[in-house]
Amino acid sequence: MKMIRYFLFPFLIFSSATICAQTYARQGMVVSDNTLASKAGVDIMKAGGNAIDASIATAFALAVTHPAAGNIGGGGFMVYVPKNDTATTIDFREKAPLAASSTLFLDKDGKLLANKNHESTLAIGVPGTVAGLYLAHQKYGSMPWRRVLQPAIDLAREGFPLTWALFKDSERLRQSAASDFIASYFLNSSGKPTQFEELWKQPALAQTLEIIAQQGKDGFYKGVVAEKIVEFMQENQGIITKEDLIKYEAVERLPIVTTFKDYTIYSMPPPSSGGVTMAAMLNLFELVDVNDVPFNSAAYVHMLIESMRRGFADRAEFLGDPDFNPDMPVARLISKERAAQRFAAIDIKKASVSDSSAYGHPYDGKNTTHFSVVDPSGNAVSITYTLEQSYGSKLGSKELGFIFNNEMGDFNPVPGMTNSTGMIGSDPNTIAPEKRMLSSMNPVVITKDDTLHMVMGSPGGRTIINTVFQTVLNSMLYDMDVAESIEAPKIHHQWLPDVTYYEKNKLSPDTIEKLKRMGHKMRPVGQLGRLMGIQYNPQNNILSGAADSSSPDGGAVGF
Ligand code: GLY
Repeated sequence: MKMIRYFLFPFLIFSSATICAQTYARQGMVVSDNTLASKAGVDIMKAGGNAIDASIATAFALAVTHPAAGNIGGGGFMVYVPKNDTATTIDFREKAPLAASSTLFLDKDGKLLANKNHESTLAIGVPGTVAGLYLAHQKYGSMPWRRVLQPAIDLAREGFPLTWALFKDSERLRQSAASDFIASYFLNSSGKPTQFEELWKQPALAQTLEIIAQQGKDGFYKGVVAEKIVEFMQENQGIITKEDLIKYEAVERLPIVTTFKDYTIYSMPPPSSGGVTMAAMLNLFELVDVNDVPFNSAAYVHMLIESMRRGFADRAEFLGDPDFNPDMPVARLISKERAAQRFAAIDIKKASVSDSSAYGHPYDGKNTTHFSVVDPSGNAVSITYTLEQSYGSKLGSKELGFIFNNEMGDFNPVPGMTNSTGMIGSDPNTIAPEKRMLSSMNPVVITKDDTLHMVMGSPGGRTIINTVFQTVLNSMLYDMDVAESIEAPKIHHQWLPDVTYYEKNKLSPDTIEKLKRMGHKMRPVGQLGRLMGIQYNPQNNILSGAADSSSPDGGAVGF
């Protein structure tokens, strides 16, 4: 293992994190935000399941062990790159309910109702996770559906020792005024707070999972679970109906495919902005001479910023749900010609300006979660899914035991209102019935010479696109191994606000000064991203995986 963060930044002390080590394996691997969930996937592979089976087992297990973002009440994306077959994606992004409209979150004067798009029952989108996982299983799974849900059911029913991170969450949520549901989420069967390392059991969630295991997709979208969802909505001023649930379908879509030097990158098409925006940024960076931009130099950060500025401007202007925006110019946005024209216009010594008269909001949910899977046949699955904010809407039915998303906050809330703070009001992502809200989730799979190179992804709202972009660049351009790529310093710029966020203490003061002199506004922030990745080395046939050291319960498990 190459030594990573510890040697690069020996002066840093990470309070809650361990130093991220690489895990090595020959056959299969899962890397996720919770080691028990990674193990659930690996156990399925050991029992003969493929990468799809393992990813479904891990996704359901994360809904039990990592409830801040692992979910059945939210949505997400899967990129699937089979070893000897065509790459594909599954879109299981939430949808706006049938009763929603572009003015859902506005008062009678057209002003945004205080945070209603994040903190109310109206913020809940029609969940997509169960439909997406079920579709993936129907098309590409190999083991019985019930079998792949079993580890999650066991974890919910038998319980698992409450980790320190979950214990701290439970203390915070107990004080939360958000809902009785979330305040009591971590109580034990005696109605007392579950303590650190005490077995935390979730009988209501186990029962819901059991129904889904027996009835498949219908177990969530029809029948008793659906009835209880609708009952919850009716009692709490929600607008999701039985019809919304029955009509929900996950969609298989062609991936965004781009190249970077000898590599091929497969990522998510709209309604995620991740694939298109990252492809545009990679195209620009491909034109850079690596000798001119040593890693982490001012020249390097400048080029990152200028790539991000342009990618995010396009994101704001053009991207939304493809089923509602059939004319999105995706091919043009990711073309090498456009990148060449734009590259020629970049001043290598001076920051360009983000024009705030056009379109940009740093405040998308940061509590998404990503996991990466490779099976013994070399099939790769990359899944990012989410409840939007940490513990989503913090709303749910005690009888069902799972948390609803607050994903409606990812729509542009005020049509026509774009400003320098990062609020976007462009048309492609305004609310409409059954529309999917634009996402920044960016699960990727990379190959080289038709052989798997890397599986990668991250949470972090709009920062996702940039943290994944830098991580894969670290591997493809700077030859870092997987842990080193993940732990290396990251920055974030998203066009508007015209500010560069950098992880504090990870750029030298001299570099920051140079960047300021070039015209960049520099602002320190904490950790950017929480990456979960696997790399394959064809020379020795070894998988190496790493969970970002910022993930308190995360881990790579291989065999
Ligand atoms: N909710 C985070 C995203 O979809 O980008």
